[in-house]
Amino acid sequence: MTSARKGKVSVVGAGFYGSTTALRLAEYDIFETVVLTDIVDGKSEGLALDMNQSRPIEGFETAVVGQTTTPDGEGYQATAGSDIVVITAGLPRKPGMSRMDLIETNAKIVRGVAENVAKHAPNAVVIVVSNPLDEMTALTQLATGFPKARVLGQAGMLDTARFSNFVAAELHVPIGAVRTLTLGSHGDTMVPVPSQCTVTVDGQQRALTDLLGADKIEELVTRTRNGGAEIVALLKTGSAYYAPSAAAARMARAVAEDAGTVLPVCAWVDGEYGINGVYLGVEAEIGAGGVKRVVETQLSGDELAALHAAAEAVRAKQADVADL
Ligand code: NAI
Ligand code: 2OP
Repeated sequence: MTSARKGKVSVVGAGFYGSTTALRLAEYDIFETVVLTDIVDGKSEGLALDMNQSRPIEGFETAVVGQTTTPDGEGYQATAGSDIVVITAGLPRKPGMSRMDLIETNAKIVRGVAENVAKHAPNAVVIVVSNPLDEMTALTQLATGFPKARVLGQAGMLDTARFSNFVAAELHVPIGAVRTLTLGSHGDTMVPVPSQCTVTVDGQQRALTDLLGADKIEELVTRTRNGGAEIVALLKTGSAYYAPSAAAARMARAVAEDAGTVLPVCAWVDGEYGINGVYLGVEAEIGAGGVKRVVETQLSGDELAALHAAAEAVRAKQADVADL
């Protein structure tokens, strides 16, 4: 059990992603308070009560507060002074839909949420997860007016985790032996980076490219790129949330603990890799204040070209969200 719990983290949207994130954050037992909000009357309060009732069993002290909010911002007082806000409000995909099909509906939701966050938690670091991710992150920065380092998005950790999981299963090695990396957008221009992937075998760190043939790596890369859609098709209603919430919660924890951990996230890129002025999936050092710095990784020529292509694809869409 942690002795010095501090700070307040708010999770906006108490659907599958938001509620699992709130529970993970509470179970860390490092925060004083986790606030969970939603526009559906009573949903957040009910989930918070349920989570609090798990405390004697799981042994954490963090208090979870549930709060219904209204479209005109009533209820956001509960999030006042949050150190971190995770935005999960918005529709998930249905089978056959792309993340981009959600842009108009979710832009309206995320803009409204972001304006309320700016009003009630003006110093918060904001972690966006609503889809389409890269565009919603850019929109949140615009709507809050927060410094770009204080607004980041979750996608790369999830895509990287999926890639690692597929590699571990293919090679029959423990998940902890695998290091993979995924950059670019959370969408069609996702950029898995096989040249930086390693697997520890018999205590020796080996390049993934030495252990699997190019065709097999390409197959795993494709499965990673379609990782969200694979789960949407299986669930038939809603999208993934266990791995996504693990990723968002870890990002929030890195901020809360000022950890300086290097994580793949959607961050403002301005100069790194020769790319300017766009929110894009890159590795970044995360701590108090959000993104401390974008960390450039050695990429192959093809990977760098793919990252540039991803930047241009999301740049065009990010310009559009300003008017949504
Ligand atoms: P869900 O449908 O279970 O929950 C969404 C919740 O948002 C609902 O409870 C709804 O009432 C609430 N909501 C809608 N408008 C709101 C508003 N104005 N204020 C507060 N709450 C509001 O969906 P789920 O699975 O939780 O997914 C949430 C979002 O996260 C979706 O956009 C989904 O595509 C995205 N997602 C992103 C991932 C990523 O890697 N970035 C991974 C998985 C999902
Ligand atoms: C995912 O990748 C749908 O973005 C969501 O699972």
